[in-house]
Amino acid sequence: MMRACLLAFLTVTACTEASAPDTTPERTRLAPGEIRSGYTFLQPQTQALQDDDFANPGFLWVDRGDALFHEAAANGKSCASCHGEEGEELASAAAHYPAIDEDSGELVNIEGRINLCRARHQEREPLDYESDDLLGLTAYVAYLARGVPMSVDISGAAQSWYEKGEDYFYTRRGQFNLACSQCHNESWGKKLRGDTISQGHGNAFPGYRLEWQSFGSLQRRLRDCDSGVRAEPLDYGSDTYKAVELYLAKRAEGLAMESPGVRR
Ligand code: HEC
Ligand code: HEC
Repeated sequence: MMRACLLAFLTVTACTEASAPDTTPERTRLAPGEIRSGYTFLQPQTQALQDDDFANPGFLWVDRGDALFHEAAANGKSCASCHGEEGEELASAAAHYPAIDEDSGELVNIEGRINLCRARHQEREPLDYESDDLLGLTAYVAYLARGVPMSVDISGAAQSWYEKGEDYFYTRRGQFNLACSQCHNESWGKKLRGDTISQGHGNAFPGYRLEWQSFGSLQRRLRDCDSGVRAEPLDYGSDTYKAVELYLAKRAEGLAMESPGVRR
């Protein structure tokens, strides 16, 4: 039974070739010179929307984050009091996340880092994943790093997280029994339900998706990919998705940060 290749994915040749349902996908890699942003696969009008800081709807969240960044907590501290009036101390920070938090030894993504600062330095409650406030602050911090090449550290305590993310990337899942790699390494450039499959980099996120009519985190995008193969998406902030974020960031090394990106 060709469980791997039902209906919707018939145009994906990786799928038709890999018709034995439970074979482990080969650990194919993108060649370094072949790494391309998802931007290069978009229609020109979507690219134009991303490029225009006035029309790009993601700037609603950047502006919200900018305001929150300057808002003092009850202890008198705003993000800006420690990180600079224009966030200058964070000019490239987002390009180096996820990263290990030295105090806890845990991997944190940029959302997690912002929440740690709120708790440790502002004595505030953490913000919920996908709340406009957390999206806003994340958008602002990512925007400060726009154009900076992605580069994460996968040594030391980060290494096992990286490997966990890599394993997830090459594991088949869902009713369609497809691994991330089968779409984003083996089938990029092919059409799928009106989309051109990209290489699956996270450099545009947090970003605005026309399909969402809203802004969302990279984990929201990952949840959509898992749902797309009819797998149960993981919880927001789960260790596994953080590990996948680290794997994706390393895989995209050198690609410029684009957030706030615009995607279909
Ligand atoms: C059935 C094919 C398929 C599978 C399997 C799949 N994706 Fe995707 N993915 C897509 C499509 C289609 C899009 C939207 C168009 C594109 O590729 O940017 C997308 C988009 C993305 C994006 C956003 C790229 C951008 O520039 O906006 C990321 C990141 C991503 N996928 C990661 C993953 C990860 C990680 C997995 C495994 C957990 C995965 N995908 C599994 C088809 C797939
Ligand atoms: C009282 C000072 C203080 C405040 C207020 C503060 N931070 Fe921080 N922030 C730090 C320190 C110190 C670090 C280094 C890690 C640590 O000790 O937690 C840090 C680290 C960071 C980093 C990671 C920087 C890197 O290069 O890895 C980001 C991003 C960040 N903060 C964002 C924010 C945001 C957004 C706010 C407001 C919601 C905020 N911080 C509030 C002191 C502060």
